[in-house]
Amino acid sequence: MNVHPLEDQLRRPIRDLRISVTDRCNFRCSYCMPKELFGDDYAFMPSSEQLTFAEIERLARLFVALGVRKLRLTGGEPLMRRNLPELTAKLCSIDGVEDIGLTTNGVFLRQHAEPLYAAGLRRLNISLDALDPVLFGKMNGRGVKPEVVLRQIDHAAEAGFEVKVNMVVQRGLNESEILPMAGYFRSKGIMLRFIEFMDVGGGNGWSMDKVVTKQEILERLQSAYELEALDQHYFGEVAKRYRYKGSAAQVGFITSVSESFCSSCTRARLSSDGKFYTCLFASEGLDLRRMLRSEADDDSLLAAIKRVWERRADRYSEERTEQTRQHRDKIGMSYIGG
Ligand code: GTP
Ligand code: 5AD
Ligand code: SF4
Ligand code: SF4
Repeated sequence: MNVHPLEDQLRRPIRDLRISVTDRCNFRCSYCMPKELFGDDYAFMPSSEQLTFAEIERLARLFVALGVRKLRLTGGEPLMRRNLPELTAKLCSIDGVEDIGLTTNGVFLRQHAEPLYAAGLRRLNISLDALDPVLFGKMNGRGVKPEVVLRQIDHAAEAGFEVKVNMVVQRGLNESEILPMAGYFRSKGIMLRFIEFMDVGGGNGWSMDKVVTKQEILERLQSAYELEALDQHYFGEVAKRYRYKGSAAQVGFITSVSESFCSSCTRARLSSDGKFYTCLFASEGLDLRRMLRSEADDDSLLAAIKRVWERRADRYSEERTEQTRQHRDKIGMSYIGG
């Protein structure tokens, strides 16, 4: 297998692979799968179009041969894919994989946390946008209460996982939850990450004035806590981290709108139907499933992936303007998994 370091047009190596295992979700978050667009008659992907576990494992091995060291399982909601621990165990056994994480809304962890841990998974990023039951029920579009997720966060931490919590902040919707969420997770010693609302996909009602920036959130936090900025853990880390003074707890910010991080973006994305995308805001991907199912050998798959990465020049968040926003036909967030 090929082991030469691979770089794109902006000299960014390929280090991470985010693997979406399903386009389905039990939630209908307004910023990701708005109910009006993902109604009862929405045509999700038939399972025959989804990559099988063997196909995902084969591709993951090839990506690792090209430089990937970090894997993340996403969805939709990845725990809606049957037998996920089986896939997780296969991916954990790949030589060269240094880190593997899973991003989930947490609801199904009750039955899946232990099997995932046994399969080798150690990191979970769990989404929660509010502690207020009415607001959270509205935001997840299904009336699910925060207690359901909070219980699973505790359960996952007790099972031994390193847990982080993701909160998408939207002006006029859940800004009032910034301080309650910070206080709650600070006291638990769990890292909460505030995510700036992004213009992913189409039809999530994004506009710049609905973005609450890192600066604004930080100022609110500083009205209650003393915070100190921490250095990056590693090149290309997505979150900017701070520590609460006098406590071990940390808080993070994902600033894709106000301080883009494209220049160090080392992330590749694989959709559940086997398309390889080089940006969260891409409109086209390379159809690896077609190649897999027409008996392509490893060398041709490697060459095809390499070619795409070498041509990559994506930096959407740096280029975002009204023009680029309206004229790009972007893939959906629930399809590519964030
Ligand atoms: P770790 O730092 O490894 O724990 O994971 P992560 O933060 O990369 O993964 P997670 O799935 O928790 O992502 C958190 C948020 O960051 C989501 O809203 C993602 O959409 C966003 N995000 C992750 N990678 C990128 C990226 O390359 N570009 C943009 N614009 N947003 C990203
Ligand atoms: N803006 C910012 N983050 C988003 N996510 C989903 N949609 C958006 C959006 N429009 C986040 C989820 C989850 C992660 C995978 O992506 O909250 O934490
Ligand atoms: Fe589902 Fe996550 Fe999208 Fe919410 S953000 S609809 S939980 S995939
Ligand atoms: Fe990477 Fe695209 Fe996100 Fe920029 S906008 S950080 S290139 S995924």
